[in-house]
Amino acid sequence: MDTVLKGMDPASSFSTRPLSPATWNDFAALVEANNGVWGGCWCMGFHPEGVGKGHTVEGNRLAKRAHVDRGTVHQILVYEGDQCLGWCQYGSPLELPNIQNPKTYAKGLGEMPDWRIGCIFTGSRHRRRGVARAALGAALGAIQDAGGGLVEAYPEQIEGRPPQRGAYFHTGTTDLFEEFGFERDRKIAMWRWVMRLRIKS
Ligand SMILES: CC(C)(COP(=O)(O)OP(=O)(O)OC[C@H]1O[C@@H](n2cnc3c(N)ncnc32)[C@H](O)[C@@H]1OP(=O)(O)O)[C@@H](O)C(=O)NCCC(=O)NCCS
Repeated sequence: MDTVLKGMDPASSFSTRPLSPATWNDFAALVEANNGVWGGCWCMGFHPEGVGKGHTVEGNRLAKRAHVDRGTVHQILVYEGDQCLGWCQYGSPLELPNIQNPKTYAKGLGEMPDWRIGCIFTGSRHRRRGVARAALGAALGAIQDAGGGLVEAYPEQIEGRPPQRGAYFHTGTTDLFEEFGFERDRKIAMWRWVMRLRIKS
């Protein structure tokens, strides 16, 4: 499963930038145009603080901004022109400790990954145009630039189930990860897999 990645498709009309204080307003505009994403999570689910009980939408926004200011978030934003259309979050397990189905995950765990792919999101009006593909490709390129290593993702299986709305795929789909050479390691829920790819620097 070793791979050396190529850059983004040169024919793509998208460009990418990392989430940082300089791109925060573009990210925030996309989140706000999509009702805070998932009821106002502000993409905090994988971060150590988590989301849900005891968390508010404003608290999630402030927590995300604090990660950006401290440099404790890795997230690739996809742009068309000046508009941010989507993102792919990635980071070390320390940076992104909160995966779903943690007990089942822990039971089958052998080697800990160096990197995790967290949430993937495309604005509701821009889906099925390759934004998530561009975001994931750029995130894997950034991981390669940072030295590579074992990358893990937790996507949803598509085959064998009725068509689902994109809303259910916040960790992406197995098909998308297979395009990049990820292999299925083990199932951790009815439709969710651990998928892995080892990237050389
Ligand atoms: C899942 C999601 C990220 C896909 O983004 P996207 O930009 O539309 O995806 P792409 O156009 O790059 O699709 C790439 C591939 O992924 C798969 N895919 C994407 N959406 C799919 C869907 N709804 N059903 C089945 N497969 C899908 C396909 O294989 C697709 O390739 P194809 O279009 O050539 O068939 C998007 O639907 C989304 O953001 N959903 C909401 C997730 C969310 O709430 N995230 C919050 C996290 S904080």
